[in-house]
Amino acid sequence: MKTVSRLNFAHLPTPIEELPRLTKVLNGPRILVKRDDQTGLAFGGNKTRKLEFLIAEAREQGAKTLISGGAVQSNHCRQTAAAAARYGFECTLVLTGEKPKQPSANLLLDQLFGAKIVTVEDRAYRDQVLQDTYDKAIAAGRKPYLVPYGGSSPTGALGYAFAVEELMKQNVPADWIVFGTSSGGTHAGFVLGQRVFGFKGKVLGISIDEPEDKLKSHVSGLASQASEKLGKRIDFRRADVLANEEYCKAGYGVFGEGEREAIELFAKNEGLLLDPVYTGRAAAGMIDLIRKGFFKKDETVLFWHTGGQPALFADKYSQELL
Ligand SMILES: Cc1ncc(COP(=O)(O)O)c(C=O)c1O
Repeated sequence: MKTVSRLNFAHLPTPIEELPRLTKVLNGPRILVKRDDQTGLAFGGNKTRKLEFLIAEAREQGAKTLISGGAVQSNHCRQTAAAAARYGFECTLVLTGEKPKQPSANLLLDQLFGAKIVTVEDRAYRDQVLQDTYDKAIAAGRKPYLVPYGGSSPTGALGYAFAVEELMKQNVPADWIVFGTSSGGTHAGFVLGQRVFGFKGKVLGISIDEPEDKLKSHVSGLASQASEKLGKRIDFRRADVLANEEYCKAGYGVFGEGEREAIELFAKNEGLLLDPVYTGRAAAGMIDLIRKGFFKKDETVLFWHTGGQPALFADKYSQELL
């Protein structure tokens, strides 16, 4: 396998814990959690693993500025801003949504890390504004590196291919990996890692905001491209990607009863925090699937916690939570 440049700042391996009280309450299969909310770097989360590869690439390209985009409460942008501070890059973030009078949660942290914020109210213009920001940075000699939305380029996806290797070394027999999928980098990494490292379980992405059909095409393409970085292209097919779109119908970031119940069940039975946008929705999907008997009673389901908890303190969500 070809060696790919990587920095080592994530706290790895992340622990795997049993959730016996949740299993009992749901009368379900054995449930485990893989704590990628503990990866380090500004409260942790799934972007840490991707950024180990992305920041290495940015350095190799001689970049001086990181530019990225996402929602106002983007976890990806918070972690990118932190990585920029840690490795001495300037950082500009193009954030979509209304700019609050008083920044809270992830937006507050972006600013603490010294990122420059450009807000775009209408999502329809976000790609254009991101491109303009990038072009201006080039013209000004700031040597920008564009960190894609969610860190989901072939390079970023490698973080999750190697996460599968880590899981296998932990020697925990998981029949299913269940997690929240959105920009597809985590999902593509899992699909690639499953093949390369011979993981025998199934990998099920609960969609946060994308139709299943789109995810299957996007994730299989991204996994194929990521495989080239390891030296040998694998052509993944749509059928290699398992995704469930049932729980994202309300739209991105819309907090509903499913998310509320999942957050409460994890908090009150296991003392574990989920976030309102990603892991809350992914867990709501997992809980519903358990209740519907989707998983066999003797199977082990590993819920891969991808982080995001700072959003609990965003005004938008904290007001809805209680
Ligand atoms: C907490 C959390 N979980 C899951 C995801 C989805 O990961 P991906 O964008 O790789 O699909 C994100 C993306 O921002 C996230 O912040």
